[in-house]
Amino acid sequence: MTLHDRYLAVPVEGAVVRCHYVWLRDNCWCTECRVSQTQERKLCTASIRADIAPESVALDDDGTLRVAWNDDHVSAYTAAWLRTHDYSDQARADRRLEPVLWDATFSVPTFEHDEVLGSPQAQIAYLEAVRDYGVALVRNTPSVLGEVERFAQEIGHVRETAFERIHNVRHDPSGYSVAHTPAELIPHTDLPGYHWPPSIQLLHFLVNEATGGDSTVTDGWSVLADLRAEDPAAFENLCRVPVPFQVFSDDEDTFATVPIVELDTDGRVRTFRFSNHLVQPLDTHFDDVEAFYAAYRKLGLMIASDRYKVVFKTSSGDLLTVHGHRVMHGRLAFDPTSGARHLQDVYMEYDDLMARRRVLLGTHKPMPAAPGVA
Ligand SMILES: [Fe+2]
Ligand SMILES: [Zn+2]
Repeated sequence: MTLHDRYLAVPVEGAVVRCHYVWLRDNCWCTECRVSQTQERKLCTASIRADIAPESVALDDDGTLRVAWNDDHVSAYTAAWLRTHDYSDQARADRRLEPVLWDATFSVPTFEHDEVLGSPQAQIAYLEAVRDYGVALVRNTPSVLGEVERFAQEIGHVRETAFERIHNVRHDPSGYSVAHTPAELIPHTDLPGYHWPPSIQLLHFLVNEATGGDSTVTDGWSVLADLRAEDPAAFENLCRVPVPFQVFSDDEDTFATVPIVELDTDGRVRTFRFSNHLVQPLDTHFDDVEAFYAAYRKLGLMIASDRYKVVFKTSSGDLLTVHGHRVMHGRLAFDPTSGARHLQDVYMEYDDLMARRRVLLGTHKPMPAAPGVA
């Protein structure tokens, strides 16, 4: 074990894990530093002295690290905890799960309704498909009004919006959205008029007997990865130029001015919104307008091409899940006189689905850092 100026290099199971003193002290798991009942932090991080450092360190035979600090405190950390929380670039890269990008050749992962709701393993598989591909299809969902809400409540929580809790999508000459007409819906993400649009959408086909109306799904992150590689300047424009989006009805309104692409702190796409029919007049720097349009049109032509779009016929009882910040959905035009077509959809949050997976796996509670402390 080596003590450096501000950090410690600890041998852990054949490797070396580097931990800053302040980070180790902050993560003490003793009953003085944690609330035993809830495992929440009790130690006030701001109260840790700026020159925190060990006075002595020791490794037990089982690899447990023991530190006596210069603030008269003693802490312990198991090898398993140190390995699990290794924050080296390599360890963080190894833990990172990359989305599996797809194009028009993709087959949407398919599950059975009764299995997803009846078996934890099947439900975990469904949730992992949503995580990895951003889309999943659940077949043989009972064609009962409100069933989509019941399904949502089993796997998470309904996200309320300005519009109905359960949306009915069918031919409706008085509807507020192009979805209520029989026209084609080109690939889009829903409710871009929110700064945080719903990140999950469930679309339940109660009855789908009309001619036409095939469904489409398109992996927006896949399109963006190609655009970023082919034309980095265009990608950068889509990340930078704010675009106004609005969705409204007679009684409700949503309006947000946000770039089409938002990145996370590692520069990866976090949020993508694309909804041709809901963009309002651009209100940005004069010099940005033409470059933005060039990038936006390039993106739009890629989305409209046959390269990325998966087209498939949904039948009654199909329940489609899409990641609303990643995968665009759409449909071809249909003939409203040829048969009934009625969907119900609800919105949810991706975080709740991933939390549901962790709870089913029993991995959601933090690992104790110290031996013998639960
Ligand atoms: Fe939609
Ligand atoms: Zn402590």
